[in-house]
Amino acid sequence: MESWVSDIEFERFSSLRRAMKTAIINPLANYLPSGVVKKLLRFGKSELAAANWTDPGGWRSMVISYKGQCRQIADKFLVRAGTIPTALRNRKRLGARVLARLIDGVDHEPVYVLCLGAGPGHIILAAMQQTRRKVLATLVDLNGEAFEYGGGLAREMGLQDQVRFVQGDVRDVEQMLDHPPDVVKMLGICEYLNDEQITDIARAVAEVSPAGAALVFNSLSKTHGTDRFFRRVFGLHMIHRSPQHLQGLMAAGGFENFVSVREPLGVYHVMVGRRSREYHSSGAKGT
Ligand SMILES: C[S@@+](CC[C@H](N)C(=O)[O-])C[C@H]1O[C@@H](n2cnc3c(N)ncnc32)[C@H](O)[C@@H]1O
Repeated sequence: MESWVSDIEFERFSSLRRAMKTAIINPLANYLPSGVVKKLLRFGKSELAAANWTDPGGWRSMVISYKGQCRQIADKFLVRAGTIPTALRNRKRLGARVLARLIDGVDHEPVYVLCLGAGPGHIILAAMQQTRRKVLATLVDLNGEAFEYGGGLAREMGLQDQVRFVQGDVRDVEQMLDHPPDVVKMLGICEYLNDEQITDIARAVAEVSPAGAALVFNSLSKTHGTDRFFRRVFGLHMIHRSPQHLQGLMAAGGFENFVSVREPLGVYHVMVGRRSREYHSSGAKGT
């Protein structure tokens, strides 16, 4: 999988910037009184902060982080230089490329892709632009507003006839499909779910997927160094897990043969697992 992504232009930090973050910026962000930081962000009209206060970790904050072009000075600092927003842009590039290559490897057309907690669909739409294969994607999200925005994005890219939006809870995935998926995308969602929910969703996905279908997901590491800031100031409670921990949860749900690739800041690993050939409806392998 490393070779699939070797030519991607990722965003990186210089060693000076990394040292400044560790020694000065992160401790300030983490330990200044949260009321003071919130006032500063309100005064600076931060759109990223406002999006998180309305819907912590929601799709709007993704749109702002992905665009990276901000009007407000506070956002120029948070979004352009912040570790998590920068790592999110890297993860988007990485996820889109991995999805495109997985789609290329499917032996029939159309290729069916299922995106869980898809938001407006930035990552799958970018992947669809990178493959010549005919793709039909089902995008599932709780939030219907994400789909209004996503519909506009798909139209701009000429992909509107290839995406279907389904408003609902990813835990009800079995009722949402009109075709077994060849590739399932769970990027940007596991960090908001507990272990049991993740394994339940993996099991539900395994139920509806053919043997060998790919599951793409990501882990989140605490190396960004700003968890305390995100919890106190944005109200964002993300769950950090090692790639191995997350793979164990997916394995319990019926997936195997995991491969993993790390974005250059080390905040996210993007991983691929395959629906086990020995999977049985009980969720157990073998027997
Ligand atoms: C952080 S955003 C990620 C969006 C997109 N996957 C990305 O990486 O750009 C998380 C999305 O998951 C959705 N979400 C969270 N829990 C969900 C659930 N149980 N069922 C469906 N969608 C969910 C939210 O509405 C939000 O749009």
